[in-house]
Amino acid sequence: MAILRTCTALACIAAAASARQLPLVADDNYPAYVPLPPSSNISNGTAIDTKKLQADIDIKKLVARAEDLAKIAEASIPEYNHPTRVIGSQGEHVSIDLSMPNSDFHPGHLGTVDYIYSEISKLGDYYNITNQTFPAVSGNVIESRLVIGYDVPKSAEPFSLTPATKRHEPVYGNLHLVPNGGCSASDFPRNMTGQIALIKRGTCSFSDKSANAGRALADAAIIYNNENSTLSGTLGTPLPDHIATIGLSAADAAPYVARLLNSTRKLDAIVYIDATVDEIMTTNVIAQTTAGDPENCVMLGGHSDSVAPGPGINDDGSGTISLIEVATQLTKYDVNNCVRFAWWAAEEEGLLGSDYYATHLSAAENQKIRLFMDYDMMSSPNGVYQIYNATNEENPNGSGELRELYENWYEENGHNYTFITFDGRSDYAGFLTAGIPSGGIATGAEGIKSKKEASIFGGEAGAQYDPCYHQLCDDINNLDLTAWEVNTKLIAHSVATYAKSFDGFPKRTAAISERSLADSKKGTPLFKYKGNELIM
Ligand SMILES: *[C@@H]1O[C@H](CO)[C@@H](O)[C@H](O)[C@H]1NC(C)=O
Ligand SMILES: *[C@@H]1O[C@H](CO)[C@@H](O)[C@H](O)[C@H]1NC(C)=O
Ligand SMILES: *[C@@H]1O[C@H](CO)[C@@H](O)[C@H](O)[C@H]1NC(C)=O
Ligand SMILES: *[C@@H]1O[C@H](CO)[C@@H](O)[C@H](O)[C@H]1NC(C)=O
Ligand SMILES: *[C@@H]1O[C@H](CO)[C@@H](O)[C@H](O)[C@H]1NC(C)=O
Ligand SMILES: *[C@@H]1O[C@H](CO)[C@@H](O)[C@H](O)[C@H]1NC(C)=O
Ligand SMILES: *[C@@H]1O[C@H](CO)[C@@H](O)[C@H](O)[C@H]1NC(C)=O
Ligand SMILES: *[C@@H]1O[C@H](CO)[C@@H](O)[C@H](O)[C@H]1NC(C)=O
Ligand SMILES: *[C@@H]1O[C@H](CO)[C@@H](O)[C@H](O)[C@H]1NC(C)=O
Ligand SMILES: *[C@@H]1O[C@H](CO)[C@@H](O)[C@H](O)[C@H]1NC(C)=O
Ligand SMILES: [Zn+2]
Repeated sequence: MAILRTCTALACIAAAASARQLPLVADDNYPAYVPLPPSSNISNGTAIDTKKLQADIDIKKLVARAEDLAKIAEASIPEYNHPTRVIGSQGEHVSIDLSMPNSDFHPGHLGTVDYIYSEISKLGDYYNITNQTFPAVSGNVIESRLVIGYDVPKSAEPFSLTPATKRHEPVYGNLHLVPNGGCSASDFPRNMTGQIALIKRGTCSFSDKSANAGRALADAAIIYNNENSTLSGTLGTPLPDHIATIGLSAADAAPYVARLLNSTRKLDAIVYIDATVDEIMTTNVIAQTTAGDPENCVMLGGHSDSVAPGPGINDDGSGTISLIEVATQLTKYDVNNCVRFAWWAAEEEGLLGSDYYATHLSAAENQKIRLFMDYDMMSSPNGVYQIYNATNEENPNGSGELRELYENWYEENGHNYTFITFDGRSDYAGFLTAGIPSGGIATGAEGIKSKKEASIFGGEAGAQYDPCYHQLCDDINNLDLTAWEVNTKLIAHSVATYAKSFDGFPKRTAAISERSLADSKKGTPLFKYKGNELIM
């Protein structure tokens, strides 16, 4: 049961901090598994075969499930005034009208988790299903303002998960230009009470900069971009030292930075942020085949949550449903290796579910996952066939082989494809950091289709791959059914291939990738993004 708890920023930070002190034991935090009666059959004697599993994928079944998800999203209208499957949506605060046609589904995200759980439960003991419940934070900025001297810079934008200014009131003080990007405590004066830190983007995360300013007792922090665009990012997991933090474009900051470099003239500023950070308990659903070698698992995941503004039928209803359908069809076959499906919660809040899962694996459990495949946004209406540019040079050994599997399949089936950067924007990030080979496919989010891509894939040049990305219109009509079926067959192929054999696929080595170890020593995050938001 998900519990929505609104708390003050401070209480939430305390709660989040104590949640982080949970011991890092792997499987022990799973709730008890309730075994099904042993009478049902695991195997019918048919060996897994990629051609057969692909042939089992039927777009009509995917669409029927998309209609179910749309109803689940619509059932949250009484709570949110519009359809959504955002974490925390569950209809608990409203009385559900049982005469409504949608009332056979629980609303919102909790309804989605219920749906996944019950659909997989129907498959008997072919799968062992577990719920992994964890605390997720979600921020809400109610109001904000920045005044520097007499100016109100247009590009000012508070960071996601920023705390409010003191007492939720404006703070006033001299701007202090922090040298070296503020990545070290020594960049700050000892006591900045009554001052506002002005810090340049780069080298370390926004979280580090805000916390360093907080430890120096600054009243607020302004982080300015190194590019001429609005700096919108997230502070990430709340820390007790975070202070109210607002972003600014390079162009807007330039005159003030120049003025502050001339130490004879002071400059004052007012920062006001009214914000809250909520803690919500939410749930990943994990289903693993009871058959197959449990020491060698192929793992795949999509995310069960949407953003607050819309129903998220493409993002990531499409991946969620592809996984349910592949899991359903797989039950006709015997697998040699274990197959583990995951439906992550709180992806849209910064990859929280997948991150929680990957960081809570014991070393032994980590080694059992031979690879992780991410399936997020399979059906963008103006999309392209994208393969994450996962390589063995940059990523854990095996990521390159997975990329080749996707390339070969698109080629054999007569589809063009393109590579996209593997930069931490979806749930594979935690797996890469944990040293697990990863990859995946997608069809594109808010990015703009180029002329060249339009000539290769069709569709409209100059328009977003998904024009309804993170909006209310990401509904049942926001799906490219051709792409969805093609990609779900490819998901089936990826599952069938590795469920059959890992021959020729690199063995697992280190639990933590050398690159992430090196980067963590330098204090640099492995990726610029955490989900759809910049973190550094
Ligand atoms: C399991 O399979 C056997 C042999 O195919 C069949 O006789 C039996 O009825 C099946 N049991 C269930 C519970 O489906
Ligand atoms: C897991 O979560 C689902 C969906 O909320 C719920 O129906 C089910 O009872 C839970 N199972 C366990 C074992 O807690
Ligand atoms: C099901 O999975 C959980 C979590 O990994 C594990 O603790 C449990 O032993 C499994 N049960 C069966 C019957 O495999
Ligand atoms: C910092 O300065 C303020 C006022 O300037 C003072 O009240 C406070 O005690 C100082 N804090 C520390 C830790 O020195
Ligand atoms: C920054 O971008 C704005 C808006 O596009 C533009 O008006 C301004 O001239 C740019 N400034 C610089 C220094 O490039
Ligand atoms: C610094 O400010 C003073 C007073 O406004 C001015 O005379 C001087 O030229 C400025 N120096 C620089 C390097 O901008
Ligand atoms: C196993 O299931 C598949 C799909 O339902 C069916 O085509 C096949 O005949 C079954 N095989 C056996 C041996 O029962
Ligand atoms: C993919 O990544 C490799 C580095 O691992 C790089 O050399 C290559 O240029 C990238 N390809 C594309 C198309 O981004
Ligand atoms: C692949 O792209 C080429 C252009 O590079 C185009 O001529 C061809 O029709 C495309 N194939 C498909 C199946 O879209
Ligand atoms: C990656 O795996 C291949 C094949 O298993 C092996 O030959 C190679 O040495 C591995 N590379 C690294 C860097 O571990
Ligand atoms: Zn997504």
